[in-house]
Amino acid sequence: MDAVVLVSGRGSNLRAICDAIDEGTCDANIVGVVSDRKKAAALEFAAKRGIPTRVVALRKGDDRDSWNDSLADEVAALNPDMIVLAGFMRVLGAPLLERFPGRIINVHPALLPSFAGHSGPKDALDGGVRISGCTVHVVDAGVDTGPILAQAAVPVLADDTTDSLHARIQVQEHRLLPRVIHQIAIGAITLDPLTVSPAVADPARSLTVPDI
Ligand code: GRF
Repeated sequence: MDAVVLVSGRGSNLRAICDAIDEGTCDANIVGVVSDRKKAAALEFAAKRGIPTRVVALRKGDDRDSWNDSLADEVAALNPDMIVLAGFMRVLGAPLLERFPGRIINVHPALLPSFAGHSGPKDALDGGVRISGCTVHVVDAGVDTGPILAQAAVPVLADDTTDSLHARIQVQEHRLLPRVIHQIAIGAITLDPLTVSPAVADPARSLTVPDI
């Protein structure tokens, strides 16, 4: 299973995937890491590991349609079987979604469908919930709206800050994301393109999700 990983930042999830590959628990091969930010630390990690890297930057005032086209071209040139958003902070446009229907997954730091968007841990804290966690889901045209593949829960503690809660969630992300990639690679999770086109999907419609 050849995967391209899309990143914008630190890349701790990218590391976790690479660690799982090295340990033999994730049957994937990362054929490229693509970022919208030249300075993403994840790029440095990928380059050191010998993974091809690409930057498709989106600056203020840039045309978003052209950016979406360039992003889709760069990713497609790497010829992946699937795409993993691991801290990629942009909403994907039609060019990539249409070229890889149902083959793009994302990890989100909250228990979707609650607390979608850029500030999951903060919103969960502000919302006063006692349990939060992470979600791995298929990407569709919405913001964190695609079919849910797997979730892991963590407690929210009385003295939590956004950072402490996010750190606890990330421990679970690092376990869950490589496991889901592995399940997809071995065919234990089946991704159905029909569930994610054209916009918000109906999770009940046809994903085969075993216990993981
Ligand atoms: C993760 O918490 C992920 O859920 C969110 O962005 C963060 C990325 O972290 N989408 P990292 O760059 O993998 O360390």
